[in-house]
Amino acid sequence: MIDISLRVNGEYFEVSIEENLRLIDLLRDELKLLGTKEGCGEGECGACTVIMDGETVNSCLIMAFQANGSNILTIEGMEKDGKLHPIQQAYIDAGAVQCGFCIPGMVLSTKALLDKNPNPTRAEIREGISGNLCRCTGYNKMLDATEKAIKYMEEEK
Ligand code: FES
Ligand code: FES
Repeated sequence: MIDISLRVNGEYFEVSIEENLRLIDLLRDELKLLGTKEGCGEGECGACTVIMDGETVNSCLIMAFQANGSNILTIEGMEKDGKLHPIQQAYIDAGAVQCGFCIPGMVLSTKALLDKNPNPTRAEIREGISGNLCRCTGYNKMLDATEKAIKYMEEEK
């Protein structure tokens, strides 16, 4: 067992973990943050995407000990004071949420993109979510949602 500490959604955790525990298992099984989904478990689908120290990672490919000392954002950390993040609201309003399985990872990839580039082109949005697979929507709804989110965030300012 190894002791690690990390911050998840602003909350500080100290945990004892097996060396072979993956980050997704730490989040889902130990911390009970079930919003992070496991699709392939092989780094292909992006359903397990979280933001670690500002960068998107596939939490199925990262060992939990590699997250020692890091700051992680999962989908549960997006809403504030009971209000959805503008990106989440925009995904709903644009009709981008169908079965919903890919959405937590998709929303976090969108957030990481907009944090770095608040006004991306449609091509840059497509590139930003290119690591996230969706079996339902054909992706155009995600592009619409991201453009809507940009408007919502500008209005909030
Ligand atoms: S579950 Fe991690 S990339 Fe598919
Ligand atoms: S909404 Fe169903 S997989 Fe994307």
